[in-house]
Formats: sequence, C-alpha cells, structure tokens
Amino acid sequence: MITEGTAMADMEQRERARLFEGLNPQPGDSLLAIIGMVRRDPRPDKIDLGVGVYRDAAGNTPILRAVKKAERILNETQETKAYLGGEGDVRFVELMKDMVFGAGASSDPRIVGLQTPGGCGALRLGAELIRTANPNARIFVGQPTWPNHVPLIGSAGVGLVEHPYYDCEGRRVLFDEMMAALETARAGDLVLLHGCCHNPAGADLNADQWQAVADLVARRGLIPFIDMAYQGLGHGLEEDAAGARLVIAAADQALVAHSNDKNFGVYRDRVGSLHVKAADESQAQTVYSNLMVIARTIWSMPPDHGAAVVRIILDTPELAADWHAELAEMCARIRSLRARIAGFDPRLAYINEQNGMFSILPIGGAAVADLREKEGIYMANSGRFNVAGLSDDNVERFARAVVARLPENL
Ligand code: LMR
Repeated sequence: MITEGTAMADMEQRERARLFEGLNPQPGDSLLAIIGMVRRDPRPDKIDLGVGVYRDAAGNTPILRAVKKAERILNETQETKAYLGGEGDVRFVELMKDMVFGAGASSDPRIVGLQTPGGCGALRLGAELIRTANPNARIFVGQPTWPNHVPLIGSAGVGLVEHPYYDCEGRRVLFDEMMAALETARAGDLVLLHGCCHNPAGADLNADQWQAVADLVARRGLIPFIDMAYQGLGHGLEEDAAGARLVIAAADQALVAHSNDKNFGVYRDRVGSLHVKAADESQAQTVYSNLMVIARTIWSMPPDHGAAVVRIILDTPELAADWHAELAEMCARIRSLRARIAGFDPRLAYINEQNGMFSILPIGGAAVADLREKEGIYMANSGRFNVAGLSDDNVERFARAVVARLPENL
C-alpha cells in the first residue's frame, strides 16, 4: 500500500536523482585542451607551443638545479607535515614581498601578503577581497588578456569592464585607447595590469607609458591590481618589476597576484602569493584578517611543498646564486629565440620587441588550424604561441611554416 509518507520519500528520491540534470555540458578550457591534443598526435616532429611552459634548447622542461637541491634538503630536514596555517609559509611570503615590491618591502607595515595555490589562487583571492570590500567596484581588464582572467576573476562576482589593449593585426599596444577607457573609471575602481611579459601578447608598456598609467591612477583614485606571473623572464627580476612598482608607488592601495610557477619552473606545485598594500598599518591588518577568512572558505590552507622549496633556495646563498644564473639563462634563451624568429621576415620583427613567453601571430584561426593539421604545430586559437616552447632544432621549421601563412599586406 502506498502511503503519503512513501510517496513523499519517492518524490524526494527522484528530486535527488535529478540534481545533475540541471547541468549543461561545458567546452573544456581552450588552452588546457591543447595538452591533450598534442599528446594524441603521433607525429614525432610535432611542436607544442600551447601552454606556457619553458623548454630548453633540446625541448625539455627539466627541474631547475637549485630546485632539485632544495627538494633534497627539504626531504632530509623536514620533521613534520603538520598544518602551517592559513597564511602558508610566512618566510616565503616575506621573501616574495621583497621580490615584488623591492628590497626592504617586507618590513613595510602597510603591505600584507598570503601564500596562495599558484597565481590563480592569488587572483581569485584578490577578486574575492575586492568584492567583499566594495561590491560596486569594477575591474578594468585590457583585451586580449589571458583567457582565464575573466572567468577566474568574474566568478568572484566583481563587475568587469573590458577595454582595448593590443591590436593583434597591427601588432602594437593600443595605449591611447586604453588610457581613454581608464579615464572613464570611477575612483575606487581597479585596473588589472600585467606586471611584465604580457600574456597573451608579449607586448608590455614602455617606461613612459607606465609612468602615464601611474599618473592617471593617482589622479583618478584608481587601484592597481597587478598580475605578475613571469617576473624575471622578460629582462630580469628587477627590470620586470620596475613599471609595476611605479604604479604601486603612485597609489595608496594596490593588489599584486604573484606566481613562482614559471620563474622557478615549479608549475605543477602551484606556488603563488597575494600581496596587498593598504593606506596604513591598521587598514593593512584589517585586510589581512579578511584575506585569512576568505582563504579559509576557499582552500583553507595552501599546499606547502613548492613554497618551501622556493624559500630554501632564496635563503641559501649558493642555491640563490644558481637559481639567478638559471633564470638568466632562461631569459636569455627566450630573447635569442625571439631574435631568431624576427629575423625570418620583417613582418615578424615585432616579436623581438616583446617580452616573456608569448606573442600573437597575426594569421587568424584558419591558419592556426592549418598549422596544427598539416605541420603538427600547436598553439592557442588566438594565434598565441609559446616562444619558450621552441627548441633549437624546430625554430626554423616553425618560422618557415608561419611565414608561408602571413598575410601579404601586413
Ligand atoms: C598559460 O597561459 O599558458 C599558462 O598561464 C598556463 C595556464 O594556466 O593557462
């Protein structure tokens, strides 16, 4: 006999069964999809220029010497795996403050920071902090940008205003257009800036342009939100931070999402930090307490291994010196690859003026697909390619294949 009680229970059971019927299938992340496509391609001479991972002259992504040594030290000396707490590795965060803001910043009481799971964690934590502090604040985001910026920051519920930054076909920064857009921002709005090595364009602001942005930020009361994921891979650690530091100095509040995944080559260990400069020490402490609460609700505590390795390297003079040397080698190799590609055709000359791992080829989606199918050369659909993914053996084949697909009248 069916009673009212069993009918209700049946209905509840069906409701539960239907939970996932509310989901729609999603397209995978377009950048991460390239990893799988390359893996499935059986051609031995395929070239993977998709996700931003540094490769050496032989095409390998080895673990840096200093990282290997620091991992051994960590393995031998670590006595516990007990929790470190929500702030993560406090000494690591101190070291990162000096790396980001310049020597001595770790003793500035207006700057607070927290270890995060990679640069993504830092961006998300920053966006959550902004929404908590001021739900009406908007973040100005130049286009094109890293494809995950808008989903990652936007899903924290902050309003985003997109504006021009780079002309892919004209191969130049749209500086006037960007400044005109920023003139429409309200005091308290944020400006998302790529600290160096713009992803995807490779086109950074020059010193005068950084200064002009700093002046505008100060005049209009805007707040810089800087994404610095490639420090040291453009021209050097200090040089790459110079523009961002100008803008930060001009503002009494700023956020910096920092990553060590690339400059220490510890990609899968997800090593990042978020730093916030507040108007004074007491406000900085309030910000810090909010960061701790927000982080607790998302990931609770960050993973330790990669940050501990970075800390050991920077606190051990021989390892630090070796890391600086390897970083300089990576940086020089990227610069020499840029120069070689640029030398193949005047229409590619712009690549030598740009910085970091990425540049965008002005060839369009059909040519990107053609390169993939006919040549086994993989890059993002936007034409973004990872310069640092080329090896000494394949750079010429790559450049010739690209030149054959460049529009005549560029
Ligand atoms: C990239 O842009 O290729 C890297 O930042 C990896 C990623 O997470 O997208």
